[in-house]
Amino acid sequence: MGERERRLAVVSGGGTGIGAAVARGLVGDGFDVLVVGRRGDVLDSAARRICAESGRDGAVTAVVADLTDPGQVGAVVDAVGERAVDAVVNNAGGYLGGSTDSLAGVADWWRANLDANVLTAVLLTEALLPALRRPGGRVVLLSSIAAQRGGAGPYSAAKAALHGWAYDLAAQLGPDQITVNVVSPGYVAETEFFGDRMTPEGHAKRVAATLVGRAGVPDDIAAAVSYLVGPSAGYVTGQVLGVNGGSVLGR
Ligand SMILES: NC(=O)c1ccc[n+]([C@@H]2O[C@H](COP(=O)([O-])OP(=O)(O)OC[C@H]3O[C@@H](n4cnc5c(N)ncnc54)[C@H](OP(=O)(O)O)[C@@H]3O)[C@@H](O)[C@H]2O)c1
Repeated sequence: MGERERRLAVVSGGGTGIGAAVARGLVGDGFDVLVVGRRGDVLDSAARRICAESGRDGAVTAVVADLTDPGQVGAVVDAVGERAVDAVVNNAGGYLGGSTDSLAGVADWWRANLDANVLTAVLLTEALLPALRRPGGRVVLLSSIAAQRGGAGPYSAAKAALHGWAYDLAAQLGPDQITVNVVSPGYVAETEFFGDRMTPEGHAKRVAATLVGRAGVPDDIAAAVSYLVGPSAGYVTGQVLGVNGGSVLGR
């Protein structure tokens, strides 16, 4: 099958954790995938690993860009070139700690979390809107259980902002048969998200909060993304899909 016939997905934060699992899942579904992040070495090694595992040489391409910077997002548009984009998976983000010692510190802390979790998604999606496949394109935003139950200050607020934006984007793009949905993960181990913040007690507490008695793994989230970007989900738009082992119910 030629490049023009294969579907193309862009996955931000695709070099690690959930994003790498999403990229691997989409390659398995037959997509070509552009993985975007700030660290070229991390992206390159994920791309090599996924290509080797899938036996599809060249299925994953690394694009280095800090998606909080409007001036760097053009690198992704350039990498897309003349192709249509079938799916944009806005997965880049994370919890950024900060200082509350001064109002200036509070402002920096909030801006950093809003930039990392909201602006990354807004800038990437806006830049790729003209290239999205019409009809049939897909936009997915990675939120967090923290948006639904709090617990992480500006990170919770930033992720919640994605929900409201997703509803507007779903309305804007619905007439073009493009769907927009949010995936809201609960606790997912085996990623860089918690860095050295996680303790055995913190892990046990999060597992105990689930109904299924285990931590999530990146493939749990990738499966939800695969469904939403797949052909069978064309009637699902403007929704928030919780993938959290039952830690938060029905919101
Ligand atoms: N793990 C969990 O329990 C959990 C729960 C709920 C929601 N989430 C969300 O799921 C998403 C993936 O997280 P993860 O757990 O897989 O953690 P992760 O391994 O830290 O992944 C985050 C990815 O985002 C990229 N990234 C961050 N800022 C970026 C920027 N400005 N520009 C481009 N790329 C950027 C990072 O790559 P670079 O550093 O190389 O840029 C990294 O690959 C995040 O949005 C996170 O908030 C995670």
